[in-house]
Amino acid sequence: MKKNSPVSRSGRFARDPGTDVAQFTESISFDRRLWRHDILGSLAHAAMLRKIRVLTRAEANAIARGLDAVAREIVAGKFKWKPELEDVHMNIEVALTRRVPAGAKLHTARSRNDQVALDLRLWLRDEIVSLLGEIADLQRALVRLGEKNSDVIIPGYTHLQRAQPVYLAHHLLAYVEMLDRDCERLWDGWSRVNVCPLGSGAIAGSTLKLDRVLVAKLLGFVDAQGKPQLTQNSMDAVSDRDFAIEFCADAAILAMHLSRLAEDVILWASAEFNFIKIADAYTTGSSLMPQKKNPDVAELTRGKTGRVYGNLMSLLTLLKGLPMTYNRDLQEDKERLFDTADTVRASVRLMAAMLRHTAANRAACAVAASDPALLATDLADYLVRKGMPFRHAHHAVGAVVALAERTGKPLNRLTLAELQSVDKTFGRDALAVFDLRRAMAKRNLTGAPGTKEVAKQIARWQKQLS
Ligand code: ARG
Repeated sequence: MKKNSPVSRSGRFARDPGTDVAQFTESISFDRRLWRHDILGSLAHAAMLRKIRVLTRAEANAIARGLDAVAREIVAGKFKWKPELEDVHMNIEVALTRRVPAGAKLHTARSRNDQVALDLRLWLRDEIVSLLGEIADLQRALVRLGEKNSDVIIPGYTHLQRAQPVYLAHHLLAYVEMLDRDCERLWDGWSRVNVCPLGSGAIAGSTLKLDRVLVAKLLGFVDAQGKPQLTQNSMDAVSDRDFAIEFCADAAILAMHLSRLAEDVILWASAEFNFIKIADAYTTGSSLMPQKKNPDVAELTRGKTGRVYGNLMSLLTLLKGLPMTYNRDLQEDKERLFDTADTVRASVRLMAAMLRHTAANRAACAVAASDPALLATDLADYLVRKGMPFRHAHHAVGAVVALAERTGKPLNRLTLAELQSVDKTFGRDALAVFDLRRAMAKRNLTGAPGTKEVAKQIARWQKQLS
């Protein structure tokens, strides 16, 4: 064997790749973060090779000890990653074989093609679980902010125009619902990540009698009933990246939700809305304007959504023209996948921390929510209760709004005579609809922002997230 050649070239190639080629083709600079999962996969593969007697007990034990030593070296920061060894798989295998000669048997019936698919699946499985934990934490922060301000009412908006009053908690719980769907999607995708590709070899499995079930069980590739989950087509297994694309798609939807939340936070923190105050630690100043306090955490969360979408597009484009099966193009999957996971994880975490350090500006919310126009629909409902068809009621209240505008009065300051000049159906009790607390008490359909219903939803989420 040539001494410094990549192990994958030692037999057939007369010359090493040029430096520029090595630099262009390496993945160690970014795939080294798969090292833990690469070693876990190798431990399982070695245990299986022992069972089918490709390795003796002594060899298998030596390999396990050697991999353990390599892991310690990596943790201690002492491992020397070599770019000329291309990727994490080669680096670890070469380091192992240097310590343990039996390491040369470890790659039996295994290719980097099924190995990298395995590592990615193992890595993504863990990543999804931690992301789910972070999302639950963000949900708790939203519920907590709503619950702390359970009596705060704000205008709800459509077209960014004031529409109807809602509890601040109701608005925040809307995001808790979105995040809950994100969790469902991620969990659902997890079951398709959780399938073991090892044993597929480079493309066509192996002539050796591997025990794929054992490997799957050792690595936890089992369903809820404990049934091993194995890929069923070796060609698909080495070239499939659906599980990564699916994660990136779920992450894109999650990022979109975070971005919408960020946008609301940014609006609410402006002087124009002034509904919330974000703690100083979660804002930044301007280098020029001394008075500025900017909601950068929210802005960057909104901004980073772009690259999460971009990563999804990159992966879809990466795969679309690939002939079967593995092609080196697939090495380009990792940075996009890692960046997606890192970006959404950090965004979720920082948004949660920021919300934990955000207070509602109760006075400003009360002023905004006291706009009687927010209850114009309640006035129409009043007429409906008196027997008027809704279309007529809508028209009558429209005329009342126009009258209020003409006379320069708020809606709730019109006299009975003025109301009756529009329609005789209005009675003395008409103006009572503008009592905001009473109006909120009336909206108790499931999912509506009524006082009781919102309390019920807060309690439901507290229980679910505890
Ligand atoms: N570094 C490669 C990747 O990330 C590992 C698989 C390489 N396989 C190969 N046949 N060159 O995709």
